[in-house]
Amino acid sequence: MFEICPETPADEPEVEALYDLCFAPGRTALSSYRLRDGVPRVADLCLVLRDPHGQLMAAIRYWPARIGARRVLLLGPIAVHPTAQGEGLGGLLMRDSLSRARRMRFSRVLLVGDAPYYSRFGFRRLDDVVMPPPTNPDRVLGLELRPGAWVGVAGLVTRAPGAVTRPPNAPQGQPCAMVASPKEAVHDTIDPAADR
Ligand SMILES: CC(C)(COP(=O)(O)OP(=O)(O)OC[C@H]1O[C@@H](n2cnc3c(N)ncnc32)[C@H](O)[C@@H]1OP(=O)(O)O)[C@@H](O)C(=O)NCCC(=O)NCCS
Repeated sequence: MFEICPETPADEPEVEALYDLCFAPGRTALSSYRLRDGVPRVADLCLVLRDPHGQLMAAIRYWPARIGARRVLLLGPIAVHPTAQGEGLGGLLMRDSLSRARRMRFSRVLLVGDAPYYSRFGFRRLDDVVMPPPTNPDRVLGLELRPGAWVGVAGLVTRAPGAVTRPPNAPQGQPCAMVASPKEAVHDTIDPAADR
């Protein structure tokens, strides 16, 4: 089993070290970081995933941003410890955080990343949304948490320094959750009849 919890200030040095390990040096020079500078994170959606020994195995963060007057959730960074990549932990954290965001009634999510990976969670290229340059437009991807939420939302993505990081009347963020390892989950779903 793994535990997924909202990130606390005590987790922060470990999370930063994980990101440093997983990304090339200079990650904070990326244009998407200009949208994050001085903007408080969406705390309820910044999550850490720990193994049964308490080791930090993966982390994800979200920031608020804007396109014109419309609010968007900016997903990232997400990182999985190199020793555990490809075991489904990234997928666990993506699905858990997106379902928390949906429960909190956020409408739309934006990220800059590899479409071949993020398309499995429903992300599609956003042709009319422009990230601060330099950003490859093929990597600007969006997901609707509410049907039609990206329709008519177009233009430059900007910082949201004073954004309320929870929609009005949103339910409280979720506490920690225990989740089965993706490997265990695969075993759990094996049809016993298959052995007969
Ligand atoms: C990208 C990352 C978060 C994925 O997490 P993960 O736990 O390794 O991925 P999962 O086990 O959930 O999924 C594995 C699958 O994703 C694919 N995948 C992983 N990274 C990919 C990428 N960048 N592009 C396309 N596919 C990718 C794997 O090939 C594998 O495919 P399969 O299911 O067909 O075998 C993780 O590999 C990571 O931390 N990488 C370094 C940091 C990084 O690049 N973060 C994302 C920034 S956009």
